[in-house]
Amino acid sequence: MSEIRICGYRPLSGEIKIQGSKNGALPILAASILQKGTVRIDNVPAIQDVDCMVGILTSIGCRCEREGSCLSIDASCLEGAKIPGEDVGKMRSSILLMGALLGRLKEAETWYPGGCSIGSRPIDLHLLAFSRLGAHVQEDVEGGRIRASAAALKGDTICLPFPSVGATENALLAAVLAEGETEICGAAREPEIASLCAFLGQMGAKITGSGTSRLCIQGVSRLHGTAFTIPGDRIAAGTYLTAVTATGGDVKILGAPWEDMQEVARVLSQAGAAVSPVKGEDGKAAGIHIRMEGRPKPLRLSTGPHPAFPTDLQSPMLAVLSRAEGISQVQENVFEDRFKTVKELWKMGAQIEVCRNEAVISGKHRLHGARVTALDLRGGAALVAAALAAEGETRVSGCAHIERGYEDICRDLRALGGRIWEHAQDT
Ligand code: EPZ
Repeated sequence: MSEIRICGYRPLSGEIKIQGSKNGALPILAASILQKGTVRIDNVPAIQDVDCMVGILTSIGCRCEREGSCLSIDASCLEGAKIPGEDVGKMRSSILLMGALLGRLKEAETWYPGGCSIGSRPIDLHLLAFSRLGAHVQEDVEGGRIRASAAALKGDTICLPFPSVGATENALLAAVLAEGETEICGAAREPEIASLCAFLGQMGAKITGSGTSRLCIQGVSRLHGTAFTIPGDRIAAGTYLTAVTATGGDVKILGAPWEDMQEVARVLSQAGAAVSPVKGEDGKAAGIHIRMEGRPKPLRLSTGPHPAFPTDLQSPMLAVLSRAEGISQVQENVFEDRFKTVKELWKMGAQIEVCRNEAVISGKHRLHGARVTALDLRGGAALVAAALAAEGETRVSGCAHIERGYEDICRDLRALGGRIWEHAQDT
């Protein structure tokens, strides 16, 4: 077991390149089994969730080879439609293999997925999509197993009552090899869906409406191998931007997707940071530059499906607003149990009250170091951001949560002058 030690209260400065996107990479890895050749995926982040997905792909017969950030997946020898239970419970995205297996083999059997404990996280919308395409879905709720099969998948209209990211991805994965046309109404518009559409398109899928809430898929009979580069991680980049806003500094995050982070940039500007795109040689945005002096300004914030403020950055924003010059309000509209980290922030002196889906934060001039525990991935990252802004030493345990989504949060923040180290936990 390791813990992160942080000596805070010092501005951050410098530049780093952001890792590839976790939530972009995982559906693309699942989609790789829709074709019978090899795909080459670049800028794959070295994180535990990716290791877990590669483990599952290998266990169903794929040959996966990793060289640096490049991953090749040869899916020609896919062995069967049963996903072994061990790794499935460790992460949410394992459920995406169901849509991909159903697309390729017309059958899939798996277990209920795991992932961060941030709410009930049902999969009814995923299963609804499979049923609409003609699959027979069986759930063994007590045994924890799910099975779906179809003699043939047939395109149809799938209306999602909430723009679920995972259900949209699973619907796409199952529909690209279905017969005829599928329409997904109420689709999620997260940038990771557009990446998945681009990847599927490169493999030969016919999809229109990418980036909108109405996706149309004209089924094709087969897909082929391709090469693809995963975009920079907007949530990891956003985490580091919040750390700078909380503690001050002057930082460039290269590879951060500026166009996809407009609402994050707007909110951080409202908090007092100067946020602008870093221009690449071609004149296009190639990253994000942030400068912050003094304490953050208080604000009101609501999370929501893209293009609203991302729920994944809600906890890191609590860290920022805990130091603000006044009272802020944060409303969580996506997951019903995503304020768990508040109790850990209290230990650092933060003053936050939670009532149902709303947190009221009375900003304090000073936070102080403490022993705290990461309870989920982004909550853990929020504690790191708060600790960088706090006086004295903080120790964050439960780092395995953080490692699920950040390649090396200590490496990145040390490169920006943060005094932060990971080491074996004292017993
Ligand atoms: C994805 O989770 C992300 N995970 C999450 O990031 C992110 O927080 C979330 O989208 C929202 O942006 C990955 O991409 C791997 P949803 P997902 O389906 O797909 C309800 C992180 O920290 N719902 O859009 O699981 C659900 O309960 C992670 O990186 C149903 O009711 O999210 C929730 O309230 C955490 N039925 C809402 O929809 C369903 O069948 C949004 O969930 C599916 C979802």
